[in-house]
Amino acid sequence: MNALQPARLLITADGVPRSATHGDVYHSADGGPEQAAHVFLGGNDLPGRWQGRERFVVLEIGFGLGLNFLTTWRAWRSDTQARGRLHYIAVEKHPPAEADLAAIHARWPVLGALPAALRAQWPPPVGGVHQLQFDGGALALTLLLGDARECLPRIDAVADAIYLDGFAPDRNPEPWSPDVCAQLARLTRPGSTLATWSVAGAVRRRLAAAGFIVEKRRGFGHKREMLRGWRASPPLNGPPVDAGA
Ligand SMILES: C[S@@+](CC[C@H](N)C(=O)[O-])C[C@H]1O[C@@H](n2cnc3c(N)ncnc32)[C@H](O)[C@@H]1O
Repeated sequence: MNALQPARLLITADGVPRSATHGDVYHSADGGPEQAAHVFLGGNDLPGRWQGRERFVVLEIGFGLGLNFLTTWRAWRSDTQARGRLHYIAVEKHPPAEADLAAIHARWPVLGALPAALRAQWPPPVGGVHQLQFDGGALALTLLLGDARECLPRIDAVADAIYLDGFAPDRNPEPWSPDVCAQLARLTRPGSTLATWSVAGAVRRRLAAAGFIVEKRRGFGHKREMLRGWRASPPLNGPPVDAGA
């Protein structure tokens, strides 16, 4: 059994959950569910892109408190044009204890009964793959507990949308590493999109080197900019094409 170090959570004076390990906050002080909707759903053109699809796959790096997952579930559930299945795949190295999750989820009444439904199936902090099902199986959550650099190579899927949500890259470089970016390229196809709150130059360069076109757009709250991107076609880092062939 591969036991993991659970998240060490604090709450800042302005009520935002913070990691004592990484010294960074889990979401914007300007609003958690609102940031998730603006950056991660909006940056991936959701809900529009899942409408009419039989199956849509979201991949998240850094599941954390489940805020992005819960906000996505809420949007998907209330979307009358979303008729298919949603598969949400996420990696997380330091899963919070269930009691910590309950205390923080209580701060988001806007998410209704969804946080409690997530906690009812919350797995123990054991490394590996945990499969959770919601809404009669229409929503599947595959939670890979462990380091993103080790978990991602084990995934066999094609993601339509990626949420990149590690802590700040200067404090928590692993989820933004070149290896992770290369895995994101492997797990997508041309037209797949990504979004993140970070516009760090190193993140933009690594994503571009892995085959994503990235652009800045208006950020959430006090953050002026965020990043969105999509898989290029053909991959930018692919072999040179012989124009005469
Ligand atoms: C900003 S928080 C994510 C918030 C989350 N998306 C949510 O909706 O609640 C960053 C998360 O990345 C996780 N993380 C940090 N390093 C990681 C790594 N190497 N592999 C996987 N997860 C990692 C942290 O434990 C933390 O939960």
